[in-house]
Amino acid sequence: MKKITFPENFIWGIGNGAYQSEGAWNEDGKGESIWDRYGHIPGNVWNGENGDVTTDFYHRYKEDIALLASLGIRHFRMSIAWTRILPDGRGAVNPKGIAFYHNVFAELEKYGIEPMVTLYMWDLPQKLQDAGGWANRDTADCFAQYARILFQEYGKEVSTWVTFDEPFCCAFIGNYLGTYAPGLRDFSTALQASYHMLLAHGKAVRACHEMLPGAKIGIALNLSDCKPATDRPEDAGAARRADGYRNRWFLDPLYKGYFPEDMLRLYREKGVALPEIREEDLEIMSERQDFLGLNYYSPHFFVSDEKNWPVGAASVKVGHPVNDIGWEIVPAALGNILRRVKEDYGDIEIQITENGSCQTDLVNREHRVVDDGRIDYMHRHLAVLREAIGSGVRVTAYYAFCFTDNVEWALGFSKRFGLVYVDFGTQERIVKDSGRWYAGVAAENGFETAL
Ligand code: BGC
Repeated sequence: MKKITFPENFIWGIGNGAYQSEGAWNEDGKGESIWDRYGHIPGNVWNGENGDVTTDFYHRYKEDIALLASLGIRHFRMSIAWTRILPDGRGAVNPKGIAFYHNVFAELEKYGIEPMVTLYMWDLPQKLQDAGGWANRDTADCFAQYARILFQEYGKEVSTWVTFDEPFCCAFIGNYLGTYAPGLRDFSTALQASYHMLLAHGKAVRACHEMLPGAKIGIALNLSDCKPATDRPEDAGAARRADGYRNRWFLDPLYKGYFPEDMLRLYREKGVALPEIREEDLEIMSERQDFLGLNYYSPHFFVSDEKNWPVGAASVKVGHPVNDIGWEIVPAALGNILRRVKEDYGDIEIQITENGSCQTDLVNREHRVVDDGRIDYMHRHLAVLREAIGSGVRVTAYYAFCFTDNVEWALGFSKRFGLVYVDFGTQERIVKDSGRWYAGVAAENGFETAL
């Protein structure tokens, strides 16, 4: 056994998202979000479930924060529901929504827990969707307004901000694949949406730097290690296109101030309506952010597949072990992404904003949840992370995902990622073995390993 130790002051955190955990979907003046709407339409979410109640964090935040503190965790990533602050997405502010997050921050402060606050974790106000959603350029301005309200209101309580969580998923899964809210199936709309999210991000970064010079702000991207599934040259091409679609489409404008030329060409050739790219927008999008948030779960392997319009790449499994959501477990891929970001985008600060595993958790005869698969997953990924840090990649934080089990979007309560088990019938919480293990890692700033 050897001990892996992380650099001094490394941040050990844990995260949750508003729609996934708060519940109280229409209480105290909260407006309807696209996930409220989507979840209420029969057939969209597994087993007819939704985020109406979920873990009821809205009413139980005090107990949950006390539980977090009892694990010795001092960093909590959470998101704000736009519709609690601005029920219609713009216009009148809802004082009860404002008060709720002040209360949460005060409770965190009581235990010395620092919040990392995400402005947008997929829950666009439905009223803005009715006006065209992210495909409408105005939405970027509404977002900037909303961001300014948050910076003004919470600037004294929050010093680390995340603009968007996984804009790839919101834009493309929501507007092209249709299996997330708002459930649209149009590639050109999705591309427009991604463009306006990047623009909204840049506007929020600017506002944050101007209003809160001492704070840090970044975006959380779910970058994929895109590899060809075979050594056929056409699959190498497919992997390159998938990388353009999933990674470079976001990283290039953020760090280089342009969109990838090969993707623009491909989309044009395939008849996709491209967003009108304006020089001044690129300047806003590439406003220097303070860190890059990285959400990592699983890599992707591609074969060329022309039926998969317009990217022409299909993701396939290549035989690695999979977890209970069917995602291949390849810890080395996390190292590949980290090194690649450094090589292609420079020596930037990276914070791991999400990492974790879905397991079929059972409460056993001793009322324990023995989730060794999740511990093993985190253990191996953290070992890879430490190695990458050792090789010079500047990673300063790791936020496990997630704190409590919660509603896994369109998969409802069928998939669990939490380090704390939730019985959704009684709202009982049980710290899983992984929760205890992770508390130990945070306390020790590392762990013993036989790897
Ligand atoms: C999201 C989380 C989600 C997790 C597992 C990410 O896509 O940010 O909200 O629960 O991965 O699917």
